[in-house]
Amino acid sequence: MTLGSAARGQLLETIETQRFGCEMSGSDLYSEILRVAAADVTSDGPIAGLLEPVADAPFGDAVILRFMGALHLLVLEGRAPQLAAQYPSVGGAPDRGLAAAVHRTVLEHRDEIAHRLTQGVQTNEVGRSAALLGGYLELGRLGLPLRVLEVGASAGLNLLFDQYRYLGAGGAAFGPAESPLAFSRPWFAREPELDLPLVVQERRGCDIAPIPIDTHEGRQRLRSFVWGDQPDRMARLDAALAVARDHPPLVDRASAPSWLRTQLAAPRAGCTTVVTHSIMFQYLSDEERRDMLEAIDAAGRAATSGAPFAWLRLEPGGDQAELRLTTWPGASTHLLARSSYHGPPVVWLAPDGGLLRPIS
Ligand SMILES: C[S@@+](CC[C@H](N)C(=O)[O-])C[C@H]1O[C@@H](n2cnc3c(N)ncnc32)[C@H](O)[C@@H]1O
Repeated sequence: MTLGSAARGQLLETIETQRFGCEMSGSDLYSEILRVAAADVTSDGPIAGLLEPVADAPFGDAVILRFMGALHLLVLEGRAPQLAAQYPSVGGAPDRGLAAAVHRTVLEHRDEIAHRLTQGVQTNEVGRSAALLGGYLELGRLGLPLRVLEVGASAGLNLLFDQYRYLGAGGAAFGPAESPLAFSRPWFAREPELDLPLVVQERRGCDIAPIPIDTHEGRQRLRSFVWGDQPDRMARLDAALAVARDHPPLVDRASAPSWLRTQLAAPRAGCTTVVTHSIMFQYLSDEERRDMLEAIDAAGRAATSGAPFAWLRLEPGGDQAELRLTTWPGASTHLLARSSYHGPPVVWLAPDGGLLRPIS
């Protein structure tokens, strides 16, 4: 099949935008592979034919990352040895054989890659826990245990934030010392207070497509979307998966608004209920977004000092992600931190001594 010139133009633009994003995020491997893909699309090679059905997809559909995830999965599963030799995630190193290895893999696994182009990108970025932690610690100042409700939780790994270790300056630390996942000084300069008491009484998440991390396939799918030359992110994910083996997170298959309406049907006394999410709001339709905000607003209006409610979210704020916290009663909102989209480094912005005070 030959691409029309408009479709080719749009596809090349999508590839270049993604390539630039990979380059800016420090992934030389993915930037190089996408140069190979662009050259192939220009000359009507096998990648052009493969990507033809998604050529006019909007950038937000992340079809190029679906393609990269499909290649990485083949590498991780040992089914594309020539390409694996180019991927640091399995001990390889990129060299001049990259273009030939990409072409061969595409030709040999065309149908499987085409199928994966129809499935969304799904990550669970545990580095975001390093940003979210400061918000939970702030809520701990209220003096009540937390009831954590995460929407768009993916595999639920960020629900386990208090099972990870965070090391701060001067020996300060939060989380179990023996945790397989440790963040060393994830903050850019200032840090949240790490020695505040924090008890999670209940944790539960929802996702429209939860990833089953009790299966090899589910774990490999998550790993496939980590870029093949970003060993720190892969190591964090593997460590979090090890934590999850002992503390399996509970993630319901449900859409955020209806799930929240059920979970928030009545205020819960004796704990702080917190609705949380990270990099998920953009995936909702306008209607879902409105319904979710209505559910949060209704829970806020029903909150009392004995049954406080909070909304903690890490969502895009331009070049960086922003961590915001709203608490009820009172509906006060604060920008707590800015961070990279994958978590560290986190720029902690809340004042020393914190914002919230114990409920008397
Ligand atoms: C970019 S991922 C982020 C996952 C996770 N929050 C993290 O930070 O690693 C977005 C997640 O939102 C989920 N999602 C999209 N629409 C949703 C909806 N209507 N209700 C619940 N989850 C949704 C997707 O399935 C996906 O797991």
